[in-house]
Order: sequence, then C-alpha cells, then structure tokens
Amino acid sequence: MTILEGLVAEHRVFLSVFNEIESALPHTKSASEVALLCRVLQRLIHDHGETENDLAYIALDHILKERGQHNRLFHDHQEVDSLLKQVATIPNLLEARSQLQVALNACRRHFHEEETVVFPLIAKALQPETLQILGRSWKPAPGPVPPLLKSLIGSTEVGRQPSAS
Ligand SMILES: [Fe+2]
Ligand SMILES: [Fe+2]
Repeated sequence: MTILEGLVAEHRVFLSVFNEIESALPHTKSASEVALLCRVLQRLIHDHGETENDLAYIALDHILKERGQHNRLFHDHQEVDSLLKQVATIPNLLEARSQLQVALNACRRHFHEEETVVFPLIAKALQPETLQILGRSWKPAPGPVPPLLKSLIGSTEVGRQPSAS
C-alpha cells in the first residue's frame, strides 16, 4: 500500500464516522456529550494530520510552497483542531451541535482538496517506489479509537439504545 492509498483509506473511515456522528448529533442530550465526541474526533484527526505533515507534505514541500499551498494545508489542520477544541468549550447544546457540524464540514472540504489536488501532485512528484516506502512507514490511526468512537455513538450517552447483541 502506498502512503497515499493509506491516507485515502483513512479518509474513507473518517467520512463514515462523520456520517455516524451527524446522525447521532440530534440525539445528544448535553453539551458535554458533544464535547466527548469532539475530543475523540480531535485525537483521530490530529494523528492523521501529523502523518500527512511528516510523510506526505514534507516530501512535496518545495512544490506546495511554490503554489502557496503548504502553509494553507498546514493551517487547515490547525483550524480543524482548534474548531474541535472550541466546540468542546461551548456550554449551550444547540450551539455545540451546530459548531461540531461546522468542524465536520471543514474536514470534508479539506479531505476533498487533498484527494483532488494535493495527493495527485504528490503522486506525480514522487516515484512509485518512494510512495511504497513511505507507505511502509505509515501507521494507521490507533486501532482502539474507532471502536471507542463507535461505542460512544451507539451508547445511551448520546441518546440511543445499545444494540441487543
Ligand atoms: Fe490533511
Ligand atoms: Fe488527510
């Protein structure tokens, strides 16, 4: 698996987690439940962004800098991180839900730009062997976190009944 295939696979997992969160969001009963979802999401996305910075963006540093994209992509990561941190501090439930939605939309736009603009540039600039080597250095987002997030989404904490099985 190349580094780009790994990152896109992670995007797919995150996008389906985002959909799950969106359907659980109207059932949240307090701002602290929304904050809990934010903290787990923040960790997932932070680890993914770090990998991109360390393994993919850095390999394309000069090209992205020429196009003025490097700082912006890096800024996107910081923006999503601070949006999620900010949501976790909002005491009002409706406002917290709405700001979490803003953060999810920002993530989706960022993933789309990476997949349609940035990753193709990286694929052009680097040799396939290099992409494979970088892929071998890639560690997917920590395994225990997605199941934890799943259990939060499916738990009574966010207003749903746990599955009977
Ligand atoms: Fe990114
Ligand atoms: Fe990404």
